[in-house]
Amino acid sequence: MLAFLEEEGIHPALLRDIQAFRDRHPLAEELRDRVPAPKFHYYGREVWENAAAALLRGKNLLLTGGKATGKNVLSENLAMAFGRPAWNVSFHVSVDAAALIGMDTFADGRVVFRPGPICQCAKFGGFGILDEINMARNEALAVLHSALDFRRCLDVSGYDRLPMEDGTRFIATMNYGYAGTRELNEALASRFVVLQMPAISPENLDRLLSRHFPALRKKPRQQLCQLFFELQAKCEAGEISTKALDLRGLLDALELMEAGIPAGAALDMGVTRKTFDRYEQDLIRDVMAARISPKLTRDQLFDR
Ligand SMILES: Nc1ncnc2c1ncn2[C@@H]1O[C@H](COP(=O)(O)OP(=O)(O)O)[C@@H](O)[C@H]1O
Ligand SMILES: [Mg+2]
Repeated sequence: MLAFLEEEGIHPALLRDIQAFRDRHPLAEELRDRVPAPKFHYYGREVWENAAAALLRGKNLLLTGGKATGKNVLSENLAMAFGRPAWNVSFHVSVDAAALIGMDTFADGRVVFRPGPICQCAKFGGFGILDEINMARNEALAVLHSALDFRRCLDVSGYDRLPMEDGTRFIATMNYGYAGTRELNEALASRFVVLQMPAISPENLDRLLSRHFPALRKKPRQQLCQLFFELQAKCEAGEISTKALDLRGLLDALELMEAGIPAGAALDMGVTRKTFDRYEQDLIRDVMAARISPKLTRDQLFDR
């Protein structure tokens, strides 16, 4: 991982500091399985540098941005780079304090405390990935306040205060800009430093596609990259909605092409049909067809 960061051109001083952090926080053998081993690297030097610097300074990070801008990929990459075990919490309206901190349960005829993910992070110096944090109810999040600010501790009701291990950090993610997303309340937002996740750069998208699909030929790879940025431009111009601007969908479409579905049908399934507006679908298909023939099949797209 650190070799990848060096390749990415991350400032050597930051790399040294990350290494020093790792040395200061050795990992117990039984926690090794908890350190994420993400399949994919996050590409984007500046984001890497800003995120790493904030974490090294003991800050909690809030990653905001549109869908498929790599928020979860970056979170896991960071935990791996820092060599920390991670606990992931997916937030939704029914997440409550007990789901975060833990609760009393019965075992062998007596009451025992079963720690939740936030407790585990506090105890083992873990990285807590608070996914889509804005989707939770505010009442549930109040228990996190003392963990996220200078107090660095958790009040577990009925038990002692649990101070947080030095290596503990929280990385929250938040989507916004489309239906169903909510605001984050101010008290919580003030406890994070906020990193706005940019859309992937053309150069990095090309690297990502080469890495995810090594057999994909150069020409279709470039055509698909161009197509993605053309959709992005159309979005920015307000000609289409953001529904079909979906890198995850583009990657899905490529997997379908690899499985033998012709380019047009695969893009339809992965991208175009994410919008349900006929007129918009046609517009997107026209953009696509101008870049890449919908009839192309696996043998033309991929090397054997
Ligand atoms: N800058 C980037 N570097 C690497 N992968 C990226 C980047 N941006 C998007 N992706 C890809 O997009 C997909 C969605 O990433 P994910 O982290 O789940 O997005 P988010 O949580 O922002 O919705 C993944 O396949 C990921 O590899
Ligand atoms: Mg996500």
